[in-house]
This record gives sequence, C-alpha cells and structure tokens, in this order.
Amino acid sequence: MITVENLNYSVNGTQILHDVSVDLPKGGMTALIGPNGAGKSTLLSHVSRLLPLQTGRVRVDDLEIGHCASSDLARKLAILPQQVHFVTRLSVRELIRFGRYPHCKGRLGPKDHARVDAAIEAFGLEALSDRFLDTLSGGQRHKAHVAMTYAQDTDYLLLDEPLNNLDIAASRALMALLRDLADTQNKTIVIVLHDINFAAHYADHLVVMKDGQINCTGRPEDLVTTALLRDVFGTAANVEMVCNKPYVLP
Ligand SMILES: Nc1ncnc2c1ncn2[C@@H]1O[C@H](COP(=O)(O)OP(=O)(O)O)[C@@H](O)[C@H]1O
Ligand SMILES: [Mg+2]
Repeated sequence: MITVENLNYSVNGTQILHDVSVDLPKGGMTALIGPNGAGKSTLLSHVSRLLPLQTGRVRVDDLEIGHCASSDLARKLAILPQQVHFVTRLSVRELIRFGRYPHCKGRLGPKDHARVDAAIEAFGLEALSDRFLDTLSGGQRHKAHVAMTYAQDTDYLLLDEPLNNLDIAASRALMALLRDLADTQNKTIVIVLHDINFAAHYADHLVVMKDGQINCTGRPEDLVTTALLRDVFGTAANVEMVCNKPYVLP
C-alpha cells in the first residue's frame, strides 16, 4: 500500500498541496481524478520522489520516501510522468531498455532482454522497435514510454495521463492491458485520468482531488454522480448507469 500522511507542498509561497493524507490500496487499479490544477501530478511526483518532501510522510509498502535507497524504490515503483522529455536519436527498443536499468545497471542479461521483448510485444511495437523516437507520431512515442515503464517490472506502476494522444482503440487497449496486469500479475496501477468514464469503467478505486486536497475516495459506482461533477468539476453533466457503471453524458 502507498500511504501518504499530512503532505504539504508550497512553491514560492503558494501552497499547492494542503495536508494531503490518503491510502492508495495495494493491488487493482486506483484512478486519480480531479480538475486541471487539482494537484494530481504533484501528489504522484511526491510518491515517486521526483519532488522533495517538505512536510509529511510517504511510504510505499515498507519503504519510506526520503529514507530508503533510491535504487530500492526504483525496483518497486515505476512512474510515467505527464511530460516526458525524449532523446531524438534513440530507438524504441533502446528507450525500453532503459526501463531495465534499476535491475541491471545498464548490463542487460537474458532476463532483461526477455522483458524488453515482452514489453515490445505487449504494446504492439514490433514494427516500430528500431525506429527513432523523433520519427514517431505523438501517440506512438507515448506508447513507447508506457512500454518502458512496463519493462521496469515493478509492483507499482504510476501513470500520469497515459491516454493523452491516444486514439480510442489505443486507449481501450492500454486500459485493458493495465487491467490485466492488475488482475493476473498482482501489479498495482495508479493512474491519472481525465476521462471519468474510462476511470469509472476500469478502476476499482477512485481518489478525487480538488484545490490541492483529497475531496473523496471510494468505488466509482458510489462516487461518480451528478453532484460530484457539479461540486468538484463545476459542470452540470448528467450521470447514467450503464452496465452497472456510472456513465457521464457529455
Ligand atoms: N513549479 C511550480 N510552480 C508554481 N506552481 C506550480 C508548480 N507546479 C505546480 N504548480 C501549480 O500547482 C497546482 C497543481 O498542479 P498539478 O499537480 O500539475 O495539477 P494537476 O496534475 O491536477 O493538473 C497548479 O495550480 C499548478 O499551476
Ligand atoms: Mg497533471
């Protein structure tokens, strides 16, 4: 489980996270939703130690952020940030190999190569594996980065808006793959999603943020209501139940 306790975070005198305490359960898929600027990326950046802790505690199972070795955390948790900077003259396969770094420090063995091959296959990147990143479409490049995160083979996968740039087929395929990782390989998926319908359909658990605070947590079928859309997102959208899942009518 990921446990966040009393996390506060300020930049230049502006408070961005306000005393955030939340548990992200182990196993299954937790979706983090909330309006733009709610603090979702900032929270994930703290969990993955991309931002230094100012106050509060973050624990990932038995590892405490700020006190554990970075290499231990890298083998337990992988993150795909919202903005990735890519090196143009790097092929898809070379990028995915970087995902194995925490395990082999750059000297890939047979197990590492097998995992790279598995990531390429899982994301249908075979035909693109030798192409340089700057020759790909935004969506293809994005998929390569998700595959790199997958290749890390960690218990926890944190993905910040991984559906950006993906078409409907690619979005559904990625969500189905992440769901399968949670269901059959005991991975814990924590994912920031803007599409509430995707979140409600695929996730077991929602964490709703607003104004740098946790607004509510729970099952999609309990949380996604007309009232939530009004109060948290400030929009008057109707919610219907479709196949026992809430469905926001745009
Ligand atoms: N380095 C920074 N300097 C100033 N403001 C920041 C910085 N990083 C984030 N913020 C602000 O913090 C708030 C939360 O940002 P973020 O966590 O990216 O939101 P979300 O991912 O939910 O859209 C936003 O208002 C954003 O403008
Ligand atoms: Mg964000």
